[in-house]
Amino acid sequence: MKAQSIFEGVFCLHADIHTADLFEGIWPIPKGVSLNAYAVKGEKAALIDLVRDWTGAPKQLEECLASVNLSFSNFDYLILNHLEPDHTGWLREFREKNPNAEIIATQKGINLVKSFYKIETGLRAVKDGDTLDLGGGKVLSFIEAPNVHWPETMLTWDASSGTLFTCDAFGSFGALGERVFDDEFNDDEHAFFEEESLRYYADIISSFSAFVEKAIRKTESLPVRVVAPSHGIVWRRDPGKIIGRYLKYASWAGGPAEKNIAVIWGSMYGNTEAGVRAVVRGIEREGVPYTMRKIPDENISWVLMDAYRSSALVLAMPTYEYAMFPPMSYVLDIFRRKHIYGKKVLRIGSWGWVGGAKKDYEAAIANLKWESLESCEWPGFPTEADLKALEERGAELARLVKNG
Ligand code: FEO
Repeated sequence: MKAQSIFEGVFCLHADIHTADLFEGIWPIPKGVSLNAYAVKGEKAALIDLVRDWTGAPKQLEECLASVNLSFSNFDYLILNHLEPDHTGWLREFREKNPNAEIIATQKGINLVKSFYKIETGLRAVKDGDTLDLGGGKVLSFIEAPNVHWPETMLTWDASSGTLFTCDAFGSFGALGERVFDDEFNDDEHAFFEEESLRYYADIISSFSAFVEKAIRKTESLPVRVVAPSHGIVWRRDPGKIIGRYLKYASWAGGPAEKNIAVIWGSMYGNTEAGVRAVVRGIEREGVPYTMRKIPDENISWVLMDAYRSSALVLAMPTYEYAMFPPMSYVLDIFRRKHIYGKKVLRIGSWGWVGGAKKDYEAAIANLKWESLESCEWPGFPTEADLKALEERGAELARLVKNG
């Protein structure tokens, strides 16, 4: 891996992670993820963000540095925009290689350096508007951006190159390979990263959308030429594209999103599935786009992504032992944690000897601010009348989306 020059004295370093491990221990990354760090060199040198020791990431970073005749020991400062261990896990080893580099973070970040890594010296807390003069015309400034993604998060701004180092903000899943800049990827590759940025946003950032919007508003007066996140593409041709995309994602929190219906369904013996097919016929009749995810077969990461981007949901699950089908309970728990609010929702499902999903479901969605259509339940396999009613209910939901 080689360092990529953003501007004179400003380099992107990155490590590509390819692993069966789950990101944050929850989210699959079948196409990998990049951990980006940055070097800014004036008379003194600063390293912005780090990596964790994960599938050889420190070695990859070391190779990037060597490609521009740098090494970890060359840095006077290590700036930690965000303390989550994907960006800091290798901190103690870095400190051993370079005991002199001052570690810079917000006060909350410094507290995490102490609690996570038991490092007590060579620390500097910075706040909004503070600057770090590297000499040679390179002055970095710090912008607090709490809760994008953790409370201690900040952004770093290099006015000399117009580069905003944003850590998790504007990031995506997906490994980069040898290219890092937006102008180096073709349309298909951009489509891939767009989907992976949405999945990343839904999985990691969605519950902090109000803070994302606030951080973007806070930086909109800056003459940003390059958006340099710590995961995914570095945007130098069209930084407005990823900023606009994140504003769009943030606007979906709590309200209407795309005119799409996410059909999320589980079935034990095909009885609920028959109902799902009928609902889908109704949706198709109205010509509204929809996506389907079967649970638990499909991972929650993609289920969440579909739900986040959709204005409406169909949730289909049978009653299981007097309560909801357990995989749907997990889905709804994640929806609650990730603030999947303000959706139009149709719930359907079959029951065997007795119902029970309804009560369980209603308790689970109590605080989600959903607009619920009348639900549809039936014993065993749906009758012709049930199927007709289900199709009509699907069409009704689709019309609400179409006209919403
Ligand atoms: Fe990429 Fe919240 O860490």
